[in-house]
Amino acid sequence: MAHVNENYRNLKDSYLFSDINKRVAAFAAAHPEKKIIRLGIGDVTLPLMPRVIEALRGAVDEMGSAATFHGYGPEQGYGFLRDAIRDYYAHIGTALEPDEIFVSDGAKSDLGNLTDLFAADNTVLIPDPVYPVYVDTNLMNGRKIIYLAANAENGFLPMPDVSVHVDLIYLCSPNNPTGAVYTKEQLKGWVDYALANEAVILFDAAYEAFISDPALPRSIYEIEGAKSCAIELCSLSKTAGFTGTRCGYTVVPHALTAKTAGGGVLSLNRMWLRRQTTKFNGVPYIVQRGAAAVFTEEGMRQAKETIGYYKQNAKIMAETLTRKGIRFFGGVHSPYLWMECPNGMKSWEFFDYLLENAAVVGTPGEGFGVNGEGYFRLTAFGGRDNTAEAMERFQKLF
Ligand code: MLT
Repeated sequence: MAHVNENYRNLKDSYLFSDINKRVAAFAAAHPEKKIIRLGIGDVTLPLMPRVIEALRGAVDEMGSAATFHGYGPEQGYGFLRDAIRDYYAHIGTALEPDEIFVSDGAKSDLGNLTDLFAADNTVLIPDPVYPVYVDTNLMNGRKIIYLAANAENGFLPMPDVSVHVDLIYLCSPNNPTGAVYTKEQLKGWVDYALANEAVILFDAAYEAFISDPALPRSIYEIEGAKSCAIELCSLSKTAGFTGTRCGYTVVPHALTAKTAGGGVLSLNRMWLRRQTTKFNGVPYIVQRGAAAVFTEEGMRQAKETIGYYKQNAKIMAETLTRKGIRFFGGVHSPYLWMECPNGMKSWEFFDYLLENAAVVGTPGEGFGVNGEGYFRLTAFGGRDNTAEAMERFQKLF
């Protein structure tokens, strides 16, 4: 009989959002008359924008004609898209080579796949609360994880403990789930720590498009030295509504290296290319054409409009919480509001309470780690009417 990867036995029974879906499905079955409003998983609700649809249609037509048909594409992504991403980075002040950019089917896949590049005995530093994928993918590989407490005292933006050495560091800013955003000075603290420890930062920038304060960093490469210590992951899921369309990109700079057992160094860019060319056949041509449209002038304008809509939802929720005197974090440069559960409730207790009494779904903070206990995450990705209605129901509750 085949042997299983024993590390899987260290995982919780089910992934957080699957668990929530199951509970909501059970509630819906028991109360078919209730209109459930879902502000749980950060899934977008607005359709793809017109510029993207136009590009997708054009690409579908190309696939229907022998003269313009595309079979296997380059594993790293088509040049037209990597050039567009390079120009986007240049626009926010970071010069990249197109071959430092790898197009993928999303940040979640890359976050898991990147763990292939690192030895199982690397020590990993993960803030808590956190997007559960960082923890689970490292548990699957049997890595030792050190958790770093993010809490109200540090504004959910913990800084490194210089007396502790780690090899891999996960950072997410704007943060999922707390909505907190690191400043340039704080990120510099992390870059300095990583360089001193020869550690690699995996920087999840999936929510960068929500930053509207030019003083806040949208990319870790805005910090000097970051190209020698950081991989950046980004996604069009939240920037342009690609949660179901699937396209993201990961930057692995040429300057980034890691040690071999024999004391040599290897380029992580070359290793990642080797990994991708072996295990991945690239994102569909049609999707990449849609993605490239996001980076056109018109595409950027439409994406900004969409993000503005979600940010307005966040404002509506923030106003309700403020009126109720409930303390919360995030919701300004982020689609997430991270609120304290009212009346000292625990987070799953509040999840059940809100579902049963208002038919509103959120995400219990404890699902993101022990420091999330007593907190609850709301997403601004709902429709406007639903968001407003959820807040009306919320207002009447306590
Ligand atoms: C979330 O709700 O945390 C995100 O939507 C999950 C994801 O991006 O995979």
